[in-house]
Amino acid sequence: MNSDKDKAQELIRRASKILVFTGAGISTGSGIPDFRGPGGLWTRREPVLYGDFIKSTRAKQDYWRYKAETFPAFMAAAPNAAHRALVELERGGRLLALVTQNIDSLHRSAGTHTDKLVELHGSGLYAECLDCYAWVSMEEALEKFRADGAPPQCACGGWLKPAVVMFGEPLERESLIKAFKAAEACDLVISVGSSLSVEPAASVPMAAKAGGKPYLIVNRGPTAHDKAADIKLDGDACELLPALVPEK
Ligand code: APR
Ligand code: ZN
Repeated sequence: MNSDKDKAQELIRRASKILVFTGAGISTGSGIPDFRGPGGLWTRREPVLYGDFIKSTRAKQDYWRYKAETFPAFMAAAPNAAHRALVELERGGRLLALVTQNIDSLHRSAGTHTDKLVELHGSGLYAECLDCYAWVSMEEALEKFRADGAPPQCACGGWLKPAVVMFGEPLERESLIKAFKAAEACDLVISVGSSLSVEPAASVPMAAKAGGKPYLIVNRGPTAHDKAADIKLDGDACELLPALVPEK
């Protein structure tokens, strides 16, 4: 009898318009901690809510402190074998779209084409002014914050906010539209390294499944979609993904 891994390989070989949906688990192999895995960030701290960030100086400071602590791991990180396997999938002509919840830009640095990439939760490399929408680099914003511990401000006087989607903040409309179009157009959906517990992001692969597309999950540990999956491979994405991508 064929193993689940063989069946997953077969699904991928037969597909030509694959939607890949990724989460923090694809980047733990690059040294970036996840949120809900063992030792994940949310096991150690509470996320700052968007509404509080907007209203309160204390919440702004809390959020910038969190960014100041976590940013060095971002800067040190390089793409791993799982990110590279998805670039191979694209080179082989099988990737329709790569929808990620990650803000670490590692799919970009691995070489995923920006046309294929949807970064649903924004980019952790920039901060945005809440008043004039100007972008500055995260390094520059953090330098200001580290200088006096005050929430950093734009040259226009507006508050800077990391250019990422916070809890309680709506996602960018265009990104969502692109992601759900891909869910409609794909012929296979693969979720990698996500607990699939955060909405609306997790509805993207679920929409593909609801539309009758086969659903493969690659994740270490349980996910909220395990029952919906046609195949679930439990393990390290850095080992599993390279083995799944067919030779050209
Ligand atoms: N290989 C496979 N799976 C892994 C690996 C690995 N090397 N490392 C961790 N995982 C698994 C974890 O066990 C967990 O099930 O990846 C999953 C990551 O899930 P979460 O930490 O919930 O991350 P994610 O699903 O991306 O979170 C979604 O939540 O806090 C917000 O905005 C943040 O984008 C994030 C969103
Ligand atoms: Zn401004």
